[in-house]
Amino acid sequence: MTTQEELTATIADLVQPGKGILAADESTPTIAKRFKAVGVESTEAKRREYRSIIFSTPGLGDSISGVILYEETLSQLSLEDVAMPHLLEAQGIVPGIKVDKGKGPLVNAPGDEITFGLDGLENRLAEYKKLGARFAKWRDVFHISDTQPSRQAIVSNAEVLARYAAICQSLGVVPIVEPEVLIDGDHTIERAAEVSEAVLGEVFRALARHGVQLETMVLKPSMVTPGKASGKATPEQVAEFTLTTFRRCVPAAVPGIFFLSGGQSPEEATLNLNAINNMGAEPWELSFSYGRALQEPAQHAWAGHPENAPQAQAALKKRARLNGLARSGDYTA
Ligand code: 13P
Repeated sequence: MTTQEELTATIADLVQPGKGILAADESTPTIAKRFKAVGVESTEAKRREYRSIIFSTPGLGDSISGVILYEETLSQLSLEDVAMPHLLEAQGIVPGIKVDKGKGPLVNAPGDEITFGLDGLENRLAEYKKLGARFAKWRDVFHISDTQPSRQAIVSNAEVLARYAAICQSLGVVPIVEPEVLIDGDHTIERAAEVSEAVLGEVFRALARHGVQLETMVLKPSMVTPGKASGKATPEQVAEFTLTTFRRCVPAAVPGIFFLSGGQSPEEATLNLNAINNMGAEPWELSFSYGRALQEPAQHAWAGHPENAPQAQAALKKRARLNGLARSGDYTA
């Protein structure tokens, strides 16, 4: 297959009716936090056990088209000694890989952050591809305050995101472009919309500058919501603000917008996605690429006990199925 054929085939496999992406790419410090919340110490063996259980969920491929893995998992064997990417492929699921190297302070922009990981990215991607990864993910983070994110943070992060996406496509790997506008803070939904518009506008200008092919990428953004400390908006309000913002910024050539859950509860994330899909016809497929909102119930059910595997799998299957329905606006609470 040519690089272009690889990109086209992977997009077709990822963007499917009734399906979304499972983000299981928590870095080692992040998964330690998630495990701690359910009383489990994060060791390599426990991470392997947990991920092996969830990826073996019977019928997971009915509502999940792709799974984002962390580097450690990509080369790990399941409890049955099957390479994790192969375990997913056997379920008809495309394996992907988180390739950014996390974030840190952006110099001369107090409070803003920049994402690292471009150095050596080509070589790492080539290795990941050999191990089975067909798509990649890079996450930028934007904090909201009255003055943040700075113009400097918006422009610099958009630039690295676009460079990452161009590198991925040059190797036949579909880029998931993730500009996360954080939910933390007491800002209004109007302020979140203003920041999201500035960020998305700049991201697409950078993607154009770097010649990224919009037809073979996936956008993974935050929904537009009020800050976590300022109460909740209704799903209809979230849908209205989100779609108004996205219609202004996201070209129709982008095949799929797969939202992150970003700290919304599992039920909220499903309700909001459902409302977004009920607003009317949009040029893009509107789906999910949830981490916490898919996995939280499964992690609680598992709680580190191998014998709880069936309950953990049932909990994951349920959230995946309900979000699969919300993806076409067919979920009823
Ligand atoms: P959440 O859905 O938990 O925000 O995770 C998605 C993700 O991949 C964050 O980078």
